[in-house]
Amino acid sequence: MAGNLSPIDTAKFVAAKRAVEYVEDGMRVGMGTGSTAAWMVRCLGELVRDDGLNITGVPTSTRTAELAQQVGINVVTLDEARWLDVTIDGTDEFDAELCLIKGGGGALLQEKIVATASDKMIVITDPSKHVEQLGAFPLPVEVIPFGWQTTKALIEEMMVSMDVLGHTATMRMNGEALYVTDEGNHIVDLHLTRIGNPRQMSLVLNQVPGVVENGLFIDICDVVVTGHADGRVEVIDINEGTHEESQIDFAEAENLFADI
Ligand code: A5P
Repeated sequence: MAGNLSPIDTAKFVAAKRAVEYVEDGMRVGMGTGSTAAWMVRCLGELVRDDGLNITGVPTSTRTAELAQQVGINVVTLDEARWLDVTIDGTDEFDAELCLIKGGGGALLQEKIVATASDKMIVITDPSKHVEQLGAFPLPVEVIPFGWQTTKALIEEMMVSMDVLGHTATMRMNGEALYVTDEGNHIVDLHLTRIGNPRQMSLVLNQVPGVVENGLFIDICDVVVTGHADGRVEVIDINEGTHEESQIDFAEAENLFADI
């Protein structure tokens, strides 16, 4: 084992390490948000510093932007980059079709825009995020502040007619106050338990006035890289129809931790 690194962090690190192999000199790279994506940013920073990799990074949150700058990655906005070669991000759930639930960290809107503006989206994950059917993780829905209570009520009404098991909607909180996203919006978390038809759910949710975007990523993810605590990495490529396995040396992970 890699010293004090926990099994889950080892899994996240090896997934990130394998995923950055997709990044080539000169690429414009979308950088996701969350604890797994943070490993990817550190791995990219290492390649920039030690191997002279020349990339431009587009972060999906202020948190990721700060970390990227800290590790020496050249950061630009999506409007400056316009289109990206690849985006690497974490997920909260993924299924066999590589449909995702994202937004547990509150950055789903920028994450979806950036991933959609990329030739390829690679998800990095540990095995716990793999599900038979999406929905055990609460589905985040970003809503604008104006009339949010009405928007939430409309979403609740809509959920009754959908193929889901749970029907509870809760506002995401930050202490006593409503959680506010980087775009100044709020998040409604839908506790659905099981989403029978994610494609339909996503379309219907985005029809509700006041909804900006939802955390279902359908037909966006191309590759899922799953890291394991023993250093094994599985790569599923939905376009190539391939499922490969390899082994990553994770001895250096602690240094990356110590650097930041
Ligand atoms: C951020 O809004 C999310 O979409 C994250 O990408 C997702 O929650 C995964 O986060 P972790 O890697 O921290 O589990």
